[in-house]
Parts: sequence; structure tokens; C-alpha cells
Amino acid sequence: MTRHRLPAPPLPAGRPRLVVTGFMGTGKTSSGREAAARLALPFLDLDEVVARRAGVSIPDLFATRGEVGFRALERAVVADSGRLSACVVATGGGAPMDAGSFAHLAAGSLVAVLTGTPDELARRLAENGGRPLLGGNDPARIAALLHERREAYATAGQPLDTGGRTPREVAAALAERYRAAMGGHTVRISVSGPHGPYPDVVRRGAPAGAGPEVRTALPGAVLAVLVADAAVDGSAGEQVAVSLRAPGLRVERVVLPAGEAAKTLDVVAALWSRFVQLGVDRTSVVVAVGGGAVLDAAGFAAATYARGVPLVNVPTTLLAMADAGVGGKTAIDHDGAKNSVGAFHHPRLVLADPAALASLSIRDLRAGLAEVVKMAVTASPLVLDVLEAMPVGRGGAPADLAWIVEQAVRMKAAYVAEDAADTGLRHTLNLGHTIAHGLEGAGAFGLPHGEAVAIGLVAESRFGEARGITPPGTTVRLEALLARLHLPVTPPPGLDGAAIAAAIGSDKKRRGGRAVVVVPAPGGAELVEDVDPLELLTFLHAEVRR
Ligand SMILES: NC(=O)c1ccc[n+]([C@@H]2O[C@H](COP(=O)([O-])OP(=O)(O)OC[C@H]3O[C@@H](n4cnc5c(N)ncnc54)[C@H](O)[C@@H]3O)[C@@H](O)[C@H]2O)c1
Repeated sequence: MTRHRLPAPPLPAGRPRLVVTGFMGTGKTSSGREAAARLALPFLDLDEVVARRAGVSIPDLFATRGEVGFRALERAVVADSGRLSACVVATGGGAPMDAGSFAHLAAGSLVAVLTGTPDELARRLAENGGRPLLGGNDPARIAALLHERREAYATAGQPLDTGGRTPREVAAALAERYRAAMGGHTVRISVSGPHGPYPDVVRRGAPAGAGPEVRTALPGAVLAVLVADAAVDGSAGEQVAVSLRAPGLRVERVVLPAGEAAKTLDVVAALWSRFVQLGVDRTSVVVAVGGGAVLDAAGFAAATYARGVPLVNVPTTLLAMADAGVGGKTAIDHDGAKNSVGAFHHPRLVLADPAALASLSIRDLRAGLAEVVKMAVTASPLVLDVLEAMPVGRGGAPADLAWIVEQAVRMKAAYVAEDAADTGLRHTLNLGHTIAHGLEGAGAFGLPHGEAVAIGLVAESRFGEARGITPPGTTVRLEALLARLHLPVTPPPGLDGAAIAAAIGSDKKRRGGRAVVVVPAPGGAELVEDVDPLELLTFLHAEVRR
């Protein structure tokens, strides 16, 4: 068995975090939580995360592993939390003492250090039942610890005195500071491409701002050919068209069949013909508006016509915002072989409007969620913690899709930056896909791709645990989260094992009928080669006919 490490790449910046730290008893958790609610941002209490990782409460963790054991876990969680953007993070009181891990969190954050007098802190702590580090709540012991930490707190961030203030008042002050520091900050994620970095803008109403954005990205553009998915031509498509005309671009419109039906040679050939009629040249821009399928087809037409016409993507599904719209892969299906004809062609700009997802079917939304969960497992595990706590609405739809899109674009952009040509680290994105492609290839019950990925994710994680690569407990956790999002975690009964194994063996990633599998690993993923497809199927935990 050959194994290759696939470490988590550095992530591009998103919106800043608000970090709330300070001594115990200063109200970091309650005021941090309240500030997050006021700012409509997710909230993470890092002590809670540490306790969840340890599987025991913080006092029990101190009792069994001592302060050293606690700090080791805390260090990893603090560093991981620096991978999230746009959230409120309350740390444990000792976190700033570890300057190395705290620096990961503080970079790109607004850090508020809550302060209070030893007497006031002792009174609050007594009301809350005390803390393991203090033994009793003796003000002298508190003063000594405060003294020990004074330098770390002084350099960690801006102090905020909590004396005589309720947690609500502190929260209001925190939210105010964050808003003031943010200004009119919108989400602009920088993605690397062959023509230099290009922006992926995640903003409500982004299509209506297409005109100025395209002008900035492509100052010499004269003609815009707007190629839209039939499902969104009258909504996002119309908004983009109106906005593009404002700065004087000539706009011509083409509507493609909705969804996968767009990814045929006939559709692309018709697009090429239209480009000829319109006089498309390199001063033109193809603006693709729609789901992953239309982006793939329009992108392929733009990649191949005149050896490459500039492309702008306006993704309108979660999958397209999180995945297909970023990274330069374009393709069509041919003779039943999915994505078999394609080219790399990076967009010059991506405009994603999370509000467009309101009209998306819940099934299509879930398809995107499966891919977001997949990326989070390896690139930013705390996204999973946030998703576990985020309220879910209709059919498992999480409440804050804009936040999810922001994190997903950052994760995808990170893999693209490290491996633009998809020859190494980007293989991490195949997590869950060896089994998913097997299920899809065997035509298993018409499973949509996202559902096949969810099933594959769980089975491949279970395989990784059995091989001693994936940390124990990963699979159980994934199962619970995917079920929360109404995604399946096992296939329906009665699968034809031989057909699935054959499909896995003939997958693009095959090596001599054996499978290549990506599994979650500490700090990222591992690629495992030379796996027997039939062995892999035993991890589906389903009835499989041999
Ligand atoms: N290029 C890449 O890197 C990449 C990555 C992942 C997937 N893909 C490709 O993406 C495709 C899947 O993408 P998808 O999940 O977006 O599916 P899709 O493009 O088929 O869209 C799903 C459905 O939603 C409709 N739709 C689109 N936006 C809508 C909106 N805002 N409201 C209502 N309906 C809307 C579409 O018309 C379609 O019927 C596959 O072909 C896959 O191969 C490409």
C-alpha cells in the first residue's frame, strides 16, 4: 500500500474574525455569543470545541490529562480556528500565553481582550462555580495569575473593560468595534490563475454589480456574450445584462438548456456558431450564468473558441459557487462519459450571490453541501463545528448560506492556488469520490452526485479509520452531520457489488483495476493507492451482492 500525504493548504483571507479573549470570569463566552448574534456571524467557543475533541468536559480533561494535556489540544484548536473567516471566536483565558498558536488566530482578526479587577472576577467566578485552574476563587490567586499573563494579554489585542457592565453591554461594545473596523468590507477572495489573481466576489446582489466589476477585470472588453442557464436567464441573467450595458458594453444573450443537458458537443457547437455570427474575438468576454453544468459548457466554449476568450462566471447553485465556478476546469460529456472532453480555462472574475440560492431545489442545494462538507474535512475542520451548530431549515438547508459560500470558496481557492493543473494536492478534492463514482457508474438507483458523494465520504472515512490513518470518531461525526443536512450516509440495499467495483476500477483515477482512495488524516488527507475495490465496498455498511 503506497500512501501520500496531502496537507491542508494555507487559506486565502476572507472577512476578519472577532476574537474575544481575556481572563476567566470576564464573560468571554456570553458576551462573545451575544456579539455574534448581533453581527449575524457564527460563534465558536474554543473551550467547547476542545471538550468535544477530547470527549470529556474541561474539568475532567484537566483531571485526567492535566494542564499540559489541555494546552496541547487547545493549541491545535486555536491554530485551526485561524482558518475560519467571518466568525466570533471566544478563546480560553490561557490561549494568548501560547504566542505561536495564538498568532495564527490573531492574524486577520480583531482581538478584544476583556478585563476586570481581581475582586470583580472572583465574585463572578464564585457565582459560576469556579474553574479548575484556580482551585478556590481567591482574589490573591487571581491577581497572581493575572500578573503572570499581563504581558500576553497586553500584546494580544485591544483591552475592553468589563467592570460594571453586563455581558449584553460588553457584547454591544464588541459588535460596535467589529463594525467600525470592518467598514464596508465585502467578501472578495483572491484566486490564483494563469493571468494573475482574480477576485471571487461573494455578495448579495453581486450580479447587479457585474458592469463595474467586468470593466475593472477586463478594461478593454467591448462585447459580452451572456450565456445563461434557462432556469436563471430571467433572474440573475437579466440582472447581469442590465448591469453590463451601463458601462457601455455591447451585450448579446444566449440561453442554454438547464442543467446537465447543456454539456453536449451539440450545445457547444451551437455556441461556437453564435460566436462566429457575433464576431467574438479576444476583446469579447463570455459571461456564464448558471449552475455547474452551464458554467462547464460555456467555459469549454470560451476555452476553445479563438484559442481562448476571456470568461466571467456567475454561479447560481451552491455547487457552482463552492466548486465549479472556481478553479478553471471546464468540460462536456461525450458518448456517456462524464466530463470526458474538457480544458483548463480560468475565469477572470467570479460573482456569487448567495441570495440566488433561494430558488434552488433542496436536492440541488444538498449536492453543494456534500461538496462543502468534503472540503471542510480536510481544509478547515472547524467549518464542521459551525455546521453542526448552525440552525437548519427546509429539508436540511443551513441558515447562513452566505457564510458557507465564503468558506467554500476560500477552501477551493486554496487547493487551486497550490495545484492549478490538478496533478497533486488538488487530488484531496476527490475525497468521497472513488466510491461516489462507483455508485454513479453502476447506475445505482439514479443517485444524484451529491448524495453519492455523501455516501462515499462516510465509507472512505471508515476505510481510513480501519487503516489507522483517519482519526477514530471521524466517521461517526460525519454521519451525524450529513444526516443533519438530510444527506444519505448509506446506499439503498441490494447494490450490485461487481458493477460498482468494475466502475471504481474503470474510474479516471484507476491504476490497473485497483482503486486510489483519498482519506481524511490529521492536518489534511492521505492518498492511498492500490486498494481492492471489493474491499472498499465492505466499508459501505450496506447489503452488497457479490
Ligand atoms: N468545473 C468544475 O470544476 C466542476 C466541479 C464540480 C462539478 N462540476 C459540474 O457541475 C455540474 C453540477 O452542477 P450543479 O450542481 O450546479 O448542477 P446543474 O448545473 O445541473 O444545476 C442544477 C439545476 O439547478 C438549476 N438552477 C441553477 N441555478 C438555479 C437557481 N438559482 N435557482 C433555481 N434553479 C437553478 C439548473 O437549471 C439545473 O436544473 C456537473 O455537470 C458537474 O460535472 C464541475
